[in-house]
Amino acid sequence: MYKISVIPGDGVGPEVIAEGIRVLEAVAEVKNIDFDWEYFPYGAEYYLDTGKILPDYALEDMKKTDAIYLGAVGDPRVKPGILEKELLLKLRFYFDQYVNLRPIKLYPGVPCPLKDKTPEDVNFYVVRENTEDFYIGIGDRTNKKKDSSSLEVLRELYNVKFDIDVSQDKNSEIAYQIGLITREGSKRIIEFAFELARKKDMNRVSSVDKANVLTHVYSLWRETFEEVAANYTDIETEFAFVDAVTMWFVKKPEWYQVVVTPNMFGDIITDLGAMIQGGMGLAPGGNINPEGLSMFEPIHGSALKYKGKNVADPLATILAGQMMLEQLGEDDAGKLVEDAVIEVLKEGKIRTYDLGGKSKTSEVGHAVAGKVKELAD
Ligand code: IPM
Ligand code: MN
Repeated sequence: MYKISVIPGDGVGPEVIAEGIRVLEAVAEVKNIDFDWEYFPYGAEYYLDTGKILPDYALEDMKKTDAIYLGAVGDPRVKPGILEKELLLKLRFYFDQYVNLRPIKLYPGVPCPLKDKTPEDVNFYVVRENTEDFYIGIGDRTNKKKDSSSLEVLRELYNVKFDIDVSQDKNSEIAYQIGLITREGSKRIIEFAFELARKKDMNRVSSVDKANVLTHVYSLWRETFEEVAANYTDIETEFAFVDAVTMWFVKKPEWYQVVVTPNMFGDIITDLGAMIQGGMGLAPGGNINPEGLSMFEPIHGSALKYKGKNVADPLATILAGQMMLEQLGEDDAGKLVEDAVIEVLKEGKIRTYDLGGKSKTSEVGHAVAGKVKELAD
C-alpha cells in the first residue's frame, strides 16, 4: 500500500495527472499494489484565491506519504518567481531531492527532429543536481540610494572589484546572484550518476560544466568528479563544456549514456533533450531523494492555452509515474507502464496533436491503461 501526495496544479496539470493515475490504477490492479491518493490543491489558482502557496502543514502531511506526483504549476497572473520558488523549488529543497533525473529516450514511432536518428541513438540520462548552483536564491539588486549594504558585503567578502559609482542615479544599479557548489553536494550527485550507469549497464559518464569561465564553482565540481570517478574505473569518463554539449546533443546524441551536471545547466540541456526525444509531451522527470521523499512530474509546464481542452499529451506524466514506481522499488510494475506506452506509440493509432494525431488526453490514458492490462495477461 502506497500513499501518494498528488498536486495536480494549474493549466493542463489536472488533466495529465488524471491519466497518469488511471494508468497507475491499472498497474495496481494487475500487480497487486494499492494506492491511496492524497490530493493537495496548491498552484496559481489556489494562491490567487487564498494568498497561500505551500503552507508548512502541507509539507508535514506530504512527509507522511511515500512519494509526490505533480502535474504542473504556473499562470501568467502570478509574477515569475513566486510559484517557482515557493512551491516547486521549495518542495525540491525541503525534501532534499538532490537528484533531478531526466531520461532522454526516443521511443519507436515518435517523430524525432534530428535527421536519421533512431531510438537506438537517443537513449541516455541527464542527472541534474537539484539543490545548489544558481538556484539557491542568494543575490540582490541594489544601488547606493536604495541600499548598498549587500554590495559592501560582496566587496569585502569576495573582493569583487566593481568600478561602478553606485552613489549616483539608477544607472548605477547592479544585480548579482551567487552560485553555490559544495564538495558534499557534488559528491552525492556524481556518485548517483556513476551508480546509475552501473545499474543501467552504461559505460560512460559525461560531466557537463563551464569550468573554463566559472572557474571557482566548477573547478570544485571537476575535482570532486575526478575523485568519485577514481572509484569507478570500469566506467569511461569525460569533461565537456555546456555550450559544446548543446551542439553534441543534436549532432551525436548516440555518444551519451549518463550525463551529470550542476543545476542550471541541467535545466537548460534537458529542454533540449526533451526536443530530441520527441517533445515536451514525452519528457518525464524525477526529483529524487534516495533516502527520503521523492517527487515525479512531467518536465513541461502548465500550458494554459490548452487547459480544459483535453488535448495535452499525458505521456510525460504517465512516464513520470513509471519513474515513481521504480523509485518505490516496483521495477516490474514500472517496466509494465513503459512497455504499454511503447506499444501504444508503436501502434500509432492513439496519439495527441504534438505527435501528429488527433486523440484526446483521456483517450491516450485509456489506451495505455488498456495496454497495461493486456500485457499483464
Ligand atoms: C524545470 C523548471 C523549473 C526549474 C522552474 C519552473 C523552477 O524549468 O523543472 O526544469 O528551473 O527547475
Ligand atoms: Mn526547466
